[in-house]
Amino acid sequence: MWPYPKIVAHRGGGTLAPENTIAAMRCGLQYGFRAVEFDVMLARDGVPILMHDTVFGRTIQGIGKVPDLNAAELLKLDAGSWLSPEFAGEPVCSYRQVLDFCRQHGIWMNVEIKPAEGFEVETGRVVAQVTQECFAAEIAAHVATGAGTFADPALPLFSSFSFDALRAAQVAAPDIPRGFLTDVIEDDWAQRLQELDAVALHTNHKYLSPMQVQAIKQAGYGLFCYTVNTPERAAEILSWGVDGFCTDRIDLIGADFAGS
Ligand code: G3P
Ligand code: MG
Repeated sequence: MWPYPKIVAHRGGGTLAPENTIAAMRCGLQYGFRAVEFDVMLARDGVPILMHDTVFGRTIQGIGKVPDLNAAELLKLDAGSWLSPEFAGEPVCSYRQVLDFCRQHGIWMNVEIKPAEGFEVETGRVVAQVTQECFAAEIAAHVATGAGTFADPALPLFSSFSFDALRAAQVAAPDIPRGFLTDVIEDDWAQRLQELDAVALHTNHKYLSPMQVQAIKQAGYGLFCYTVNTPERAAEILSWGVDGFCTDRIDLIGADFAGS
């Protein structure tokens, strides 16, 4: 059974706040969400920060790339103006800041490892190490229970489109559960999950069929979808047996959304 929250705020606060910032996490909280998804990338000096795009131009204005700047430089950048003047000056935040914020407020995390090209292994390793340090007590308590990794809502869930990043996370922090992200479910999905000792498949709901849901559930895996933005579609995929999903429309789909 899926041990994590069912409805998760995508990139912190969905479309209501600048993605992957503390303002987004606060917005999610205001809407009653105690579960977030966000994207983590490495700065040039290896410090993990929250960011979706490797290249500037969409959320961060100007010309540049995340792997070309150190964290101290990135954390000064304005990550809020692009959405609305209301958020002008909202800074890029570090992964450690978000870990602290989420722990302080009891927010469960789906940590998407989002490596810049060529930094897959390093990003998976560093994100796993930082998370492991932060959750050392919870991991020790969980391991002592003897239960498998797919059982403990006290632990975050890693996910990534990068197999190599997840493999590196598995090596660095084997007791933190992993979900393999894929836009379209390929024929080798079960093998990929086995190789990563993953607990779940994360996929785009647009390409999902009820038969695929059945096969994944029968194999004993969790199934998490992105990014579901209407209550009708949310109810439909939940009725198929999907375990959870993230949404940009935290104003339309509440944290307690149950479907029909
Ligand atoms: O983790 C689910 C979803 O966030 C994956 O796609 O591009 O929004 O990070 P993206
Ligand atoms: Mg993401």
